[in-house]
Amino acid sequence: MEIKKAVLPVAGMGTRFLPATKVIPKEMLTIVDRPTIQFIVEEIVASGIKEIVFVTSVGKSAIENHFDYSYELETFLAQKGKTDLLREVRNISRLIDVVAVRQKEPLGLGHAVMVTEKVVGDNAFVVALGDDLVWAEVPCVYQMIKVFNEYQESVIAVQRVPEKETHKYGIVEGEEVAPGVFRIDKLIEKPKPGTTTSTLAIIGRYCLRPEIFPCLHRTIPGVGGEIQLTDALNALQKERGMYAYEFSGNRYDAGDKFGYLQANVHFGLEHAEIGGKFREFLKEVVKGMGS
Ligand code: UTP
Repeated sequence: MEIKKAVLPVAGMGTRFLPATKVIPKEMLTIVDRPTIQFIVEEIVASGIKEIVFVTSVGKSAIENHFDYSYELETFLAQKGKTDLLREVRNISRLIDVVAVRQKEPLGLGHAVMVTEKVVGDNAFVVALGDDLVWAEVPCVYQMIKVFNEYQESVIAVQRVPEKETHKYGIVEGEEVAPGVFRIDKLIEKPKPGTTTSTLAIIGRYCLRPEIFPCLHRTIPGVGGEIQLTDALNALQKERGMYAYEFSGNRYDAGDKFGYLQANVHFGLEHAEIGGKFREFLKEVVKGMGS
């Protein structure tokens, strides 16, 4: 089975980032000079996938518009002779063909994936969360597809977290079968302290087999009618097996204020145009704080 499609759920309410996200989708908040979602789309395109399905909701049209042509803007830039900016803006709209599926109520990540069933069909696919950023030499999704191709079973991305933070994440337990590849025995959503020794936390990148859809249908909604993706992953793991992959790279939760700032600092330091200046500025700030 070959992966050709990616699902990007962007229909959440972004309550952790209010009031910034009252009108602006959190996926459109900028990391230096690009919206978060553009980094994620670029990662997916660099991993060889061109078919992207956005799961959207009311108030998220800015995301679809960002990847569409903007006739007025392009004409304006052309008339002003701003050719570099024009090229940059055009490249964004050429990155992908946008397909959008509407999630009519924010009933959780599992539900967001479930509404793409007809578009995804009987194919394996990637799920990449619209607010999870990964800085990596080799795109994270590319690393995961390689593992999927080898094992032909679902693969979820994990990173090690400090033991005292495991209760904030979905945690996997399993046996390492190749460097960084774990055959999962169990997935535990936000484990209570002391209930697991594993520190492998699930992050927002998944390669899933289509058998996830029947598992999602069978998932019993939890608090607020939400369908948890982790519950369906647990069912799929029991049915067919599943792997976790400890990818190389740095992951930032850009849907969270602190993670967003961390991402801006990291991407700012790596930025071709302003990275050097920014590094000097940070040194000055740190020096000033020490005095
Ligand atoms: P989050 O749980 O981080 O998103 O989901 P949220 O619900 O918007 O965040 P808070 O907790 O209220 O701040 C991760 C990704 O899944 C999408 C979100 O848009 C985000 O990109 N999502 C989440 C959906 O598409 N639908 C949902 O029902 C929930």
